[in-house]
Amino acid sequence: MMPILETQRLKLREFAHDDLEDLAAMVGDEDQMTFYPRPKTRDEAAEWLERNIALYEEYGFGFWLIEALATSGFLGYCGIRPLELDGASETEIGWHTKKTFWNQGIATEAATAARDAAFRRFGLSRLVAIIHPDHAASRRVAENIGMHGERRTSLGDYPAVVYATTFLLGTGRVQAEQRVASGAPQLLEICMRGRRARRDHRCSSSQGGRGRR
Ligand SMILES: CC(C)(COP(=O)(O)OP(=O)(O)OC[C@H]1O[C@@H](n2cnc3c(N)ncnc32)[C@H](O)[C@@H]1OP(=O)(O)O)[C@@H](O)C(=O)NCCC(=O)NCCS
Repeated sequence: MMPILETQRLKLREFAHDDLEDLAAMVGDEDQMTFYPRPKTRDEAAEWLERNIALYEEYGFGFWLIEALATSGFLGYCGIRPLELDGASETEIGWHTKKTFWNQGIATEAATAARDAAFRRFGLSRLVAIIHPDHAASRRVAENIGMHGERRTSLGDYPAVVYATTFLLGTGRVQAEQRVASGAPQLLEICMRGRRARRDHRCSSSQGGRGRR
């Protein structure tokens, strides 16, 4: 399957139905799900997968599967999706990597690419991340990609810090962006034809500056 994004070490591509095994194994693991209410069952993982695949059709984006560029091995997921938060329509950026690959900069590298695609390819101007206050690793990922803690909120019983970042329209710069050691992502020039939402999003490249601003 054609990648949506490519970075120095990673490919991000759309999930397919037959990715359920890898996904269910990851989100069914207790360590992976420390900051979620509980691990997901296989059926819950399957529902998540179906909802996520439906997002691609409706919006042209969703959470994408992260693969190692060299081996195509499954590393987790990262991407963007619509979110209703405190009465506002937002776009959430999220990340989840396999524990055998933690602390290698994978989430930061994938999230940098997803952030740039959100702003430059999909024409969004603001992203939020919803992170448990005690989840230091995830908060670091948010900070690594230039997000700042905006406020506290709660999702049911789940206390959360809302991290946000804004694209400065007209300047082509991400607010408070920090350069990431793993390098700038290379957004692939992929024509997104034949899908309703994607017709609105012309192919663009983070390098060429021809994307929507
Ligand atoms: C959060 C998560 C995505 C991070 O993935 P990762 O690939 O290890 O992330 P990175 O390697 O890019 O960065 C991790 C950062 O957290 C830091 N970190 C890791 N564990 C930490 C801890 N216990 N306390 C403080 N910082 C920690 C690392 O040092 C690194 O910071 P740095 O870039 O300043 O060195 C991963 O732990 C995960 O998938 N967890 C389970 C799913 C999840 O909770 N997703 C987030 C929901 S909000």
